[in-house]
Amino acid sequence: MHTVIPRTPNSRREFDSYAVTAEFYDILQADEDEARVRRLYGREVAKARSGVLDIGAGTGRVTMLALADSRADVHAVEPARAMRTSLLTRLASLPAEQRDRVTVHPHPLDEAALHAVADVAVCHNMVGCLPPALRERLWSAIGGALTPDGSLFLQLPPARLPVRTVVRVLADKRVGEHIYGGRMTMSAAGYRIRTRVDYWVRNAKDVLREHSETFWMWPATRARLVDELAQHGFVPLPGHNDSELLAVTLRSGR
Ligand SMILES: C[S@@+](CC[C@H](N)C(=O)[O-])C[C@H]1O[C@@H](n2cnc3c(N)ncnc32)[C@H](O)[C@@H]1O
Repeated sequence: MHTVIPRTPNSRREFDSYAVTAEFYDILQADEDEARVRRLYGREVAKARSGVLDIGAGTGRVTMLALADSRADVHAVEPARAMRTSLLTRLASLPAEQRDRVTVHPHPLDEAALHAVADVAVCHNMVGCLPPALRERLWSAIGGALTPDGSLFLQLPPARLPVRTVVRVLADKRVGEHIYGGRMTMSAAGYRIRTRVDYWVRNAKDVLREHSETFWMWPATRARLVDELAQHGFVPLPGHNDSELLAVTLRSGR
């Protein structure tokens, strides 16, 4: 079986995206990504006072970290139904004390009507999913959702288009008698990056199933994002030097 779900630049509101990927997302990527999430945001999330805003929460990696390591409320914003299903399943297994602190918003952030709910916002592996015009809406919505002293921590998207096709094989994972595998193929397509992800499940003898999903990404340099965010009242936050991370805070007295 072969499923291809194309995303066009104007299809942000096709909330069926990740319908194929959600099944494979955690089994193929969670281990590596969990360590990255803790390294990039652990310290800031633990210090959150009023709330943590997890924008593009996916299956809930940042949300779970925030619930475990802070006492603050958590707002998990996730428009894609398939990803949200994994997120809610994960939240269902939490003790009531943690589940009572997390609210799941099933919309893009700019449609979630959140005002001053958090002092820490995180965009992990999501800014590259948005074209420049939608990034502007995202920055504006984050400015509104943060308290006046709030800060935003975002994982930088690719800075530029790939010069040649890049193939990244995801490490195989065994689940009982089956091996799950995947491969990401990224190539330049005009001013965008076409990312096709192929997944397969096999047993000792055969490939049992194969699926694909295609995403579009928009590269942006750190300098460009800093400029865009400055238009929305954000300034760089000193003391954050990780090359994968951009940390900004709202300029006081906006
Ligand atoms: C590549 S996934 C990353 C998920 C999660 N942050 C992680 O790293 O595991 C990007 C997520 O951003 C979500 N997303 C896209 N546009 C969004 C928006 N405007 N507001 C909130 N979430 C959005 C998608 O539905 C998707 O689940």
